[in-house]
Amino acid sequence: WEVVRIPELVELLEEARATAATCERELASSSSRGELVLQVHASRFSAAGAGAGLVLVFHDITELRRLERIRRDFVANVGHELKTPLTAISGYVETLLDGALDTRADLERFLARIQANTQRLSHLVSDLLSLARIESGKSIQRIEPLGTHDAIDQALRQHEPGARAKALTLELARDSVDRRVLADAEAVRQILDNLIDNAIKYTQRGSVRVRSRDSGEFVCLEVEDTGLGIPEQDRERVFERFFTVDRARSSELGGTGLGLSIVRHLVVGMRGRLELDSELGRGSTFRVLLPRADR
Ligand SMILES: Nc1ncnc2c1ncn2[C@@H]1O[C@H](COP(=O)(O)OP(=O)(O)OP(=O)(O)O)[C@@H](O)[C@H]1O
Ligand SMILES: [Mg+2]
Repeated sequence: WEVVRIPELVELLEEARATAATCERELASSSSRGELVLQVHASRFSAAGAGAGLVLVFHDITELRRLERIRRDFVANVGHELKTPLTAISGYVETLLDGALDTRADLERFLARIQANTQRLSHLVSDLLSLARIESGKSIQRIEPLGTHDAIDQALRQHEPGARAKALTLELARDSVDRRVLADAEAVRQILDNLIDNAIKYTQRGSVRVRSRDSGEFVCLEVEDTGLGIPEQDRERVFERFFTVDRARSSELGGTGLGLSIVRHLVVGMRGRLELDSELGRGSTFRVLLPRADR
């Protein structure tokens, strides 16, 4: 005979004793060892000769509840991120309809904001679709030998206008060596695109340099900037979905915090590794290590 000290459990035992039906309770506790959620079912039984008793079945549903919370947070985040540009767009349209249509300068200013918010929405939707595809395991299609300088050149060309608009140097580092990696071309394109986009977005002045170099059995693709840097406590978290270092700095720049989570998924999907070095106020270096094609 054990004394039960958990009040919810005592309650459950008493309830089960009073009825023929199965009763249920959820017990949650959190301690320094972590969180624990148990689902307990209690049912009365009687066996000939053995008298009567209660059977208790305990299910550990900690992981299930954690996943449910992640899903809820995800939906709330998506809702919020969709709502912000939509509110802006409808605000500008309303102002235009209310009379701001009359002056050409106003008209252009409002239309430009509507366009910027529309782009933000469309960027968000493509990131969400990307994430969904990645998570269903469909994004890494074909692993094949791929030249790193080809991939880097292509990415640099695409971001040239963005770098020029901020007067940043964007280039292939002089010490870069052309190597071949075993990777999916589209995934590498998406990875470099996100890393270079961030490097330009979070750098006020200076340069963004991209290089590939040998690193043991891997080839390292490196994107180095002289930008804002990332505080130490956030360096792990920047790879989480919707995480942004500073809401204000990101929303001003139109970021939703999905880019690096997409990068991480793709790198892991190609059996690569991801590293980050950063110094606040001095810059950041993101490294993607991919398996070498020729060993
Ligand atoms: N090169 C960088 N320098 C400084 N901070 C960075 C850099 N790259 C990422 N960060 C920080 O990490 C956060 C997460 O980056 P991530 O690319 O996932 O999201 P985002 O750029 O805000 O939005 P998105 O890429 O979805 O448009 C950013 O909000 C930013 O605060
Ligand atoms: Mg980004």
